[in-house]
Amino acid sequence: MEVIICPDADEVGRVAAAKVARVCADEERPVLGLATGSSPLAIYAHLAAKVEAGELDLSAVDAFALDEYVGLDRNHPESYASVIARTVTEPLRMDPARVHVPDGAAEDIEAAAEAYERAISEAGGVSVQILGIGTNGHIGFNEPTSSFSSRTRIKTLAERTRLDNQRFFSSLEEVPTHCLTQGLGTIMDARHVLLVAQGAAKADAVAATVEGPVSAVCPASILQHHRRATVVLDEAAASGL
Ligand code: GLP
Repeated sequence: MEVIICPDADEVGRVAAAKVARVCADEERPVLGLATGSSPLAIYAHLAAKVEAGELDLSAVDAFALDEYVGLDRNHPESYASVIARTVTEPLRMDPARVHVPDGAAEDIEAAAEAYERAISEAGGVSVQILGIGTNGHIGFNEPTSSFSSRTRIKTLAERTRLDNQRFFSSLEEVPTHCLTQGLGTIMDARHVLLVAQGAAKADAVAATVEGPVSAVCPASILQHHRRATVVLDEAAASGL
């Protein structure tokens, strides 16, 4: 694992965006792996600045988000389809037809999960997967004890995750209980993985990911086995290392 510690959260975004841009320049048909949450927002802001400056063109790039809530209308402002459209597709001037989010509203969730895996493969696999981390060590919505070989599937959200995400809804009852998420096996298939974390609330999860034993108790620790894993942290998120 390559661990880069930056003085502040904006620098985390700048360093990580530079890595993403480099992978996009190096690959003939790059495929972006997108994450939601607050952690990657600085990456998207720096990528948007490159697009604005004409240094980066993502208009023909395919992208796949990690996860989506189940039981939330796609048009709900906090559905990950809406969040990705607002924070990625529009500011990065990507083609909405090329930006994919798992279909958490599908009648047949298992079929939707299989179709999502197939679409990623048919696009050529993910070049660089952007990841945030949950305070419990989840990546995507792979909660503690998720199988390391899991593929896209429906999962129950951990209580801690629902509490962490309550801030986006008006009450805890409104926070969905289930999600459709890429599996840890799906994430590990990406050619590069790039995890970013900022703030002291992530320090324990980051320490378990980088220095702890590889254990499903901290799902992100599987990234120790990835050939090209980069972790970009601010000083607060690195404080447990
Ligand atoms: C969410 C997402 C994850 C994200 C994590 C951390 O629930 N499913 O992909 O990495 O929680 O979110 P944040 O970056 O807002 O702390």
